[in-house]
Parts: sequence; C-alpha cells; structure tokens
Amino acid sequence: MSRYREVYAGWKQDPIGFWAEAASAIDWVKPPERIFDTTQGQYGRWFTGGLCNTSFNCLDRHVMGGRAQQTALIYDSPMTGQKRSFTYAELLDDVSTFAAVLRDKGVRKGDRVILYMPMIPQAVIAMLACARLGAVHSVVFGGFAANELATRIDDAKPKLILAASCGLEPGRVVKYKPLLDNAIALAAHKPDGCIIFQRADERAALTPGRDHDWTSLFNEAKARGNRADAAILASTDPLYILYTSGTTGEPKGVVRDNGGHMVALKWTMFNHYGIMPGEVFWTASDVGWVVGHSYIVYGPLLHGATTILYEGKPVGTPNAGAFWRVLSEHKAVALFTAPTAFRAIKKEDPQGKLLGDYDLSRFRTLFLAGERADPDTLKWAEKLLGKPVLDHWWQTETGWPIAGNPVGLGVLPVKHGSPAVPMPGYDLRVLDEHNKPAPRGKTGSLAIRLPLPPGCLPTLWDKDKRFRESYLQDHPGYYKTSDAGYIDKDGYVHVMARTDDIINVAGHRLSTGALEEVLSGHPDVAECAVIGIADALKGQVPAGFVVLKSGVTRPAAEIEKEIIQKVRDEIGPVAAFKLALTIQRLPKTRSGKILRGTMRAIADGEAYKMPATIDDPAILQEIGEALKARGLPGAELLKTGS
Ligand code: COA
Ligand code: AMP
Repeated sequence: MSRYREVYAGWKQDPIGFWAEAASAIDWVKPPERIFDTTQGQYGRWFTGGLCNTSFNCLDRHVMGGRAQQTALIYDSPMTGQKRSFTYAELLDDVSTFAAVLRDKGVRKGDRVILYMPMIPQAVIAMLACARLGAVHSVVFGGFAANELATRIDDAKPKLILAASCGLEPGRVVKYKPLLDNAIALAAHKPDGCIIFQRADERAALTPGRDHDWTSLFNEAKARGNRADAAILASTDPLYILYTSGTTGEPKGVVRDNGGHMVALKWTMFNHYGIMPGEVFWTASDVGWVVGHSYIVYGPLLHGATTILYEGKPVGTPNAGAFWRVLSEHKAVALFTAPTAFRAIKKEDPQGKLLGDYDLSRFRTLFLAGERADPDTLKWAEKLLGKPVLDHWWQTETGWPIAGNPVGLGVLPVKHGSPAVPMPGYDLRVLDEHNKPAPRGKTGSLAIRLPLPPGCLPTLWDKDKRFRESYLQDHPGYYKTSDAGYIDKDGYVHVMARTDDIINVAGHRLSTGALEEVLSGHPDVAECAVIGIADALKGQVPAGFVVLKSGVTRPAAEIEKEIIQKVRDEIGPVAAFKLALTIQRLPKTRSGKILRGTMRAIADGEAYKMPATIDDPAILQEIGEALKARGLPGAELLKTGS
C-alpha cells in the first residue's frame, strides 16, 4: 500500500509543519526563523532567517558524518575512455581548492560565474565551488552557440567565465574557445577573466591578460594548501541561475535559492526516487539542464548518495548497450533520463539483445522526464527491464517533480501516458480560460496554487516584473505551468501539450519564437513560421517555413541551406534544425495571425478542421504539398470540414 495519499493529505492540511519537518534533514548554520514568509518576495519566501551553505551540505557534512571514504562522484566517459571516482573527502578537497582559486581571482558572495563546460568532473567541482563561496553559478549547455552564450553573459553579468577547451560529440571535437571568444566579443558585458580547463583532445590558445589555465591555478592552490571554507549564506540567497527558453529570443533566468532548494531536493531523494544514502543514482542528462543540476549534482550529493557523471550517449558510444554497461558496472539502483534516450536505444536494438549478460540485479527503477513519455517506449522498457518505469513531470522553473509516482512512499499503479500524481507541495489545478476549475477529465491550463513549494523559482534573475507577467498574471493566485492537461477520476495528471510556442526536441526545450527571430534575420526572408513537428526519435523537431522577399532570384535550396546553418551558428546544434521549406505564403487568419496549429496538424498528418477565420484555404494545400515533397505527411492527408 502506498502512503502517498496520506502524505499528500498531511501536507495539504499542514504545509508549514510538513516543510518544517523536511527542513530538519538539512544542516543549518542557523535554523530558519520562519518556514514560509508571506511578506517577502514575489509570492512569499521559504525558510527566511535561516543561514546555510549548499556545498557544506553536499560535502563537509558527509565527510564529518562518516562518508569520507564513500564514492561521491563517478566520472564515466566513453568519449575519452576515462573513468574516475572521487570519494566525498576527495571531492570536498577539490571543491574547497577550486573555491580558493575563484576567491583569489576576486569572486565574492553574490558575484555571478558562468560555466560553459562539457560533462567532466571539473564542471561539478566548479558548481560546488561557486556554491561554497555564495557565488551564483550559471551553467550554459555546451550545445549552445556563441550568440546564446552572449545573451546569458549580458543578463547574468558574470565576474568570471569558466570553460573547457572543448566538448566531445561522437565524431567531432566541439572547440569551445572560439565560441567563448566570440560570445565575449558579442556581449556588452565583459567578464574580469576566464579560467580554461585544457582537455587532452584540444588545447586552446589562451588570451593573454584575460584567460588563466585551470590546471595550473588548481595545482598551485592544492600545493599551497589553499582552501576556502563554506560561506555563511541566507537561505534565500541565490544558488544559481539557469536560463531556459522563453517565448522570445531572450531566455528566462530561472533563479534557485539555497535553503528551499536543499530541503526540496533532499526530500525527493528517498520519498520520490526511493534512494538510500550510500546507493548509486544515475541521471543520464547534462549539467547544462535542470535535470543535471538537480539530479546529477545537488540531489544525490545532498543525500549522501553516489552520482554518475556520464560523458556519452545512449547509442553509438559504442553501442545501444552503453546504458546497461554503466548501470551494471557502477551498481546503480536507479536511472533517470529522457524518453528520447530510450527511443534511441529501442531503435538501435529493438530486441534489447545488448542487455545480454549485464548484471542489473541491483537496478530497481527507471525514471523518465523532460518530455511526454510515449506509451510504446514505456512498455518496451518495462518489458525489457522487468522493473517499474515511472514517468514524472517537471520544469526548469520548479527544479523538482510537480507530479510523479513516489517510490519511497510506495509505488502507485502505473498508467501509461500519465506522470501519475501531484507531489506534496504542489496544489495542482486545471483551469479553464475564465480561471475557473475545469471539470474532472477536461483539458485545461495546468496551474499550481500559490505559493510554489520550496525549491521552485522565487523569481527570474533581475526581472521580477517579467516573472509576474510570465507566470502569475494569467491565473491570479496561481503559477501557470504553460502546460495543458487534465486530471482524471483517480487523480492522475495527464500532460498533453505546451500552451505557448515552446517545443520539446529530444527532451530539450526550445522556443519557436527564438528560432523565428533567427530565420527572419536572413536577408532574403520576408516572413517565416517555425513549428514543432512529430519525430519518432526526438519527440519533436523544428520545421521552418519561409516566404522569400519578392525579387529574390537565388535558388530556394541555397537559401534554405544558409538558414539551417544560421540557426546552427546562432542558436546551436542542439536546436536540431534541419528542415527549412520555402513556400509562397503563410496561412493566416483574416486578422493576420499565422495558423501554426493547423500547419503542425498537416505536418503530422493529423485530421484538422479548416479554420473558420482562414484568409485563403488554398494555402494549406500548398503547405501540404511542400511537406509532401520532403517525404513528410501532407496534402493527401488533408481533411476538411469535420
Ligand atoms: N555540445 C555540443 N553539441 C552538442 C551537445 C553538446 N553538449 N549536445 C548535443 N550536441 C549536438 C549533437 O552533436 C547534434 O549535432 P549534429 O546536428 O551535428 O548531429 C545536435 O546537437 C543535436 O543533438 P541531440 O538532439 O542530442 O541529438 P543526437 O542525435 O546527438 O542524440 C539522443 C539524440 C536521443 C541520443 C540524445 O538527444 C540524448 O541522449 N538525449 C537524452 C538525454 C538528455 O540529454 N535529455 C535532456 C534533458 S533530461
Ligand atoms: P524543461 O524546463 O526543459 O525541463 O522543460 C519542461 C517542459 O517539458 C514541461 O513544461 C513540459 O512541457 C515538458 N515535460 C517535462 N516532463 C514531462 C513529462 N513527464 N510529460 C510531459 N511533458 C513533460
């Protein structure tokens, strides 16, 4: 029997008592004066008056508590053939050393530090070193181009940037240094300096007077015994900023605080993920995403578990058995990844033959999140692994699951297509367009009654107004998730689609608005529309429709190629933008609104209604034909009327 309903009801009845108890699992320098303070912040603040340090709770606390010799971090890199483990004592020493390096370079509490790093231990060490000093880290995913990095530099205004010389993708070395230099040149804000970690695969030329060699600074500090203690921080001080796609090209700087974040993540480690301190938990994501922040770095370390940092892919490094190797070799009890990773494995090895003789006897649960988990992939994974496969739903903004199937409280029956039930802390409602509760089973806007629980964003970096406008304005008294869905008769949540122009590509969140800004920046493009179309592997991929300026005589194919390259250069390869189609005109309503929903339905081969307000129905036929010419569903699937 699951304790979920009892625990959820207990939270609802006494949220302050619930979070006060959860907070007792954290070591505070000074316990909070108030569990929830309605007088502060945009909707109140958690654990005000409390003093703490996240790096202390991730490291020192475990070293002092008997885990010094336990493995904290396992680095496993099929990209380089390297494997390395760090005990809690070693990780603490490396983090305090690197924190001393940062301090000597002038980094102080409240300063921002940007990290542009691949999946190497130095990324984790640098995050924790910032946390140790009270400096606010902002990790930028390595698949983003210079322009995206520049936008983040201008918003966060970092004192320092920490980067590696390169990232490694199958078959290519991604040189970070030119991207970094270009980003700094593009940005109005200039950091005081950069610390560059030179990897064996690519040695970058350092810019004199600005760049410092990571390894020399680190080794010198180590030799001199230079270490930094954990700074005393307010619970409400920011731990990090993580940028995520907004509806425009300007990303949103999601802020995370120290106290609430620790309390929430620590609570989830057992209650949601069912992990005991000392066990091995593997999250196959990237430290550039929220999943990596919460469940590669902070959650497992706060809990005294062992975490795996995997620099590789589910397939091709070297094959679709990679995940089974890592799980068995490091004796992981649970894996958390995005459904797209399992779709990739299923595609390469549909029979699961590569599971072979790997010993997964310790493995208990597979967790999926980041995008809608399609029932086919869920069932395939369940059958292959013979273990629970649990979908859960959350966002960069929340930092931990809004809804899930809580293993520690007792697994509830699985319903394919649903991430199960709201977690304690989240009073989840379905609202209609008049802000009234939608009837059970009816799809509406998924909204969370304020306050958001600890760990969720208190605001956007330096942009309280944008925070209120983006999340609090549409449904007064609620946080708008921008996901649409419904809650069924058993209380299970079904998350169906985004309500804004965000698309989800291989578990990565992208703004079609930002893509459109790049397309319309091409000199030959008069207007454009980007939509997410269904993709068997990545869930969705972007497709860009462009109308060329009159008088353009160059071949459309040439322009389309340039547009694809432009997106790669300005947003990054992670946008997976490979499809640009030239059309004569865009389908619009009579008031000039582009009919993106209808275009998407045509591209996905779905039945659709001819919009009553359409300006010229023949345009839809043209769109269908353009798609058909590229081998996608299109014109012949046109259904009108119904
Ligand atoms: N640095 C530089 N480039 C990167 C990158 C990084 N950190 N990560 C991805 N890219 C590049 C890829 O090389 C690819 O480039 P290409 O167009 O030259 O092939 C492009 O960005 C698109 O990447 P991706 O969408 O990840 O596709 P893929 O074909 O490389 O891999 C999967 C597909 C399914 C294997 C991969 O997306 C995956 O493992 N996803 C699941 C886990 C995950 O990360 N989820 C995210 C949040 S939980
Ligand atoms: P991100 O902020 O990048 O983690 O993306 C968050 C968005 O991904 C959510 O708002 C959803 O649209 C989508 N998402 C994440 N997890 C799920 C899930 N389990 N089911 C459906 N959609 C999901």
